[in-house]
Amino acid sequence: QPHLASQIRWEREGLACETSINLISSSRPSVLGASGGIGQPLSLLLAISPLVDELSLYDVVNTPGVGADLSHINARAKITAYLPGPDSAGLEKALTGCDIVVIPAGIPRKPGMTRDDLFKINAGIVRDLAAGVAKFCPKALVLIISNPVNSTVPIAAEVLKEHKVFDPTRLFGVTSLDVVRASTFVADVAGGDRTKYKVPVVGGHSGETIVPLLSQISPSVSIPSDKLDALVNRIQFGGDEVVKAKDGAGSATLSMAYAGFRFAEALLKAGQGETGIVEPAYVYLPGVPGGKEVQEIVGGLEYFAVPIELGPNGVVKATNPLPNANEYEKKLLEKCYEGLKGNIAKGVEFIGTQS
Ligand code: NAD
Ligand code: LMR
Repeated sequence: QPHLASQIRWEREGLACETSINLISSSRPSVLGASGGIGQPLSLLLAISPLVDELSLYDVVNTPGVGADLSHINARAKITAYLPGPDSAGLEKALTGCDIVVIPAGIPRKPGMTRDDLFKINAGIVRDLAAGVAKFCPKALVLIISNPVNSTVPIAAEVLKEHKVFDPTRLFGVTSLDVVRASTFVADVAGGDRTKYKVPVVGGHSGETIVPLLSQISPSVSIPSDKLDALVNRIQFGGDEVVKAKDGAGSATLSMAYAGFRFAEALLKAGQGETGIVEPAYVYLPGVPGGKEVQEIVGGLEYFAVPIELGPNGVVKATNPLPNANEYEKKLLEKCYEGLKGNIAKGVEFIGTQS
């Protein structure tokens, strides 16, 4: 059932006429890892979105329960839920016909761990799920949440390449939580409404690879120099605050569900014809419009997060805030490039070593 994207009303020869333009047919997102700490609240937000027609849930455990629970909500989305089953039958059913696939499957950190410590387990999970996407919904927009994002996105890209279905404009590492945190923490320092600050955060999604460009906050605000280091550090290591506070019970789930939904909703809106939507994401630079300009500045790195203009088919354009970085930010960027280089190579090599 197509969405009514816009209604046109006009008058001609004294007669009022109405018509409608349908820009997208039905939306069927899928959440892989739907029973988890992020998966459940993210699925709830998608289930109640008026932009969703059918929500498909997939996990290795508990999806029947999560699905039954969500299906009692009187929202428009139909809920379907799948477990693996024999021969990936569940994954096939979950993914067939999907236009957006959100992947928060994988283990979270405990205190003392880095995101890179998750690689050993999550790399294989993302590899297998990306192979499912390649086989069952190769045209879908794919949103990777599973950590370490700096490496899991290259893993997904390599798998899609192997299956000859890689479209860089459709693959995103979700870094929205970094900009959500940046808005909040900037408001905590500068005062005022936490919803009002837009902060470009570029680079990757772990520690020093997360680079907030605080000279480019909109609306413009000046951060006192004695507060700058602490603010940058809080944005870079915000995830650790939650890991520490949860004390062994995992990492950010609710704020991540909010941030992940924000990105998925932006794509759903873009799919319905809304223009001018810009959200951050970690993308394969050589394959997206505007990406090569960014790549030249970041020492040839192939993956990098920048604000992305979104359209119905994913990336319309990677924007490039880097030339406006100040000297302080340029130093942060240098550290970021160093860290990202290794993370990207690790992801690419993982698939190389598999085949
Ligand atoms: P969780 O353990 O609560 O949930 C993960 C879910 O994945 C579980 O339900 C598990 O059964 C499922 N799963 C495991 N293997 C699977 C497979 N092969 N197929 C389908 N499902 C599978 O963890 P969480 O707190 O929801 O975090 C999930 C991931 O998201 C972690 O890697 C975490 O580090 C990451 N994360 C990323 C960001 C970000 O900003 N990108 C933010 C927070 C967390
Ligand atoms: C976050 O930024 O909260 C996530 O990447 C989870 C984590 O491990 O910190």
